[in-house]
Amino acid sequence: MSKIPVIIDVDTGIDDAMALVLALQSDKLEIRGITTVAGNQTIEKTTRNTIDVVEYFGRGEIPVAMGASQPLVRPQIIAAYAHGESGLGTAVLPKAEKQPEELDAVSFIKKVLEESEEKITLVPTGPLTNIAILLKAYPHIKDNIKEIVLMGGGAFQGNSNATAEFNIFADPEAASVVFNSGVKLVMCGLDVTMKALVTPDEVAQIKAIGNKAGDFIAEALEFYMAMYKKNANFIGCAVHDAVTITYLIAPELIKTRQGIAKVDIDGKDSYAATICDFRPWRDKEKDNALVGVDIDREAFVKLLMDACKNY
Ligand code: BDR
Ligand code: CA
Repeated sequence: MSKIPVIIDVDTGIDDAMALVLALQSDKLEIRGITTVAGNQTIEKTTRNTIDVVEYFGRGEIPVAMGASQPLVRPQIIAAYAHGESGLGTAVLPKAEKQPEELDAVSFIKKVLEESEEKITLVPTGPLTNIAILLKAYPHIKDNIKEIVLMGGGAFQGNSNATAEFNIFADPEAASVVFNSGVKLVMCGLDVTMKALVTPDEVAQIKAIGNKAGDFIAEALEFYMAMYKKNANFIGCAVHDAVTITYLIAPELIKTRQGIAKVDIDGKDSYAATICDFRPWRDKEKDNALVGVDIDREAFVKLLMDACKNY
């Protein structure tokens, strides 16, 4: 089977790192590049973390391009409360010598898309700033994108507030551009990612694998679980961003619903909410998204553990 060509756009971030762990070892993906965006931490930190993760997992040949340092309109927010000061919790990786590409993320994605003979899937797991700038600046580029498989939003729940999920809340105007772009979306939002749970016992099993991947993943997830406990009195943690890669490499594990997804950028209490219309009598001509609603949790955790053992 031919590999799926992808560009992954990350704000690494503990669960972005888990998405990368899955992606970097998969023989089902051809990673044409990784781009970074500010989100969980500043652009300097998310870029450093991304390069360090890529190098640590032996894929230093993959280009990493640095992207937007600020959202399009709203003031910046970061998620140190969930990912710590470094963005990777207490996990410490060797500092890689590799530097980001000279091209910025948007120029890099444009170049890779234009040079590709096949359409490429974009996989954003952070705020959608880079992707929105790309689509606005180079509208013709849509034809070179197969689909956008993103972590963000939630049809029926938020986490930053009652209705908004962090990646959308961090740059709602960018998300709105992407959701209105006409490019096919796969929205792996909180409806599915809050079911992509890892328990303390499973993190202990990952640690017991006893290799460099297991050590890193367990350390990062232990920190993430402590944050879930502190902030939400929740046992375990949701590995949100890894759901995007799971959708690509093991789609049978994820259940989706087709519908119309939009981002509210005018509301007050609903600012940054993703509004998903699944009504059977909606105008189906306007369907733009497959919205993740469920995941085979145990198989997902096994996928993560197997990826870890592969290193
Ligand atoms: C999303 O927000 C970030 O903190 C995580 O990395 C994930 O992308 C979950 O709401
Ligand atoms: Ca993320």
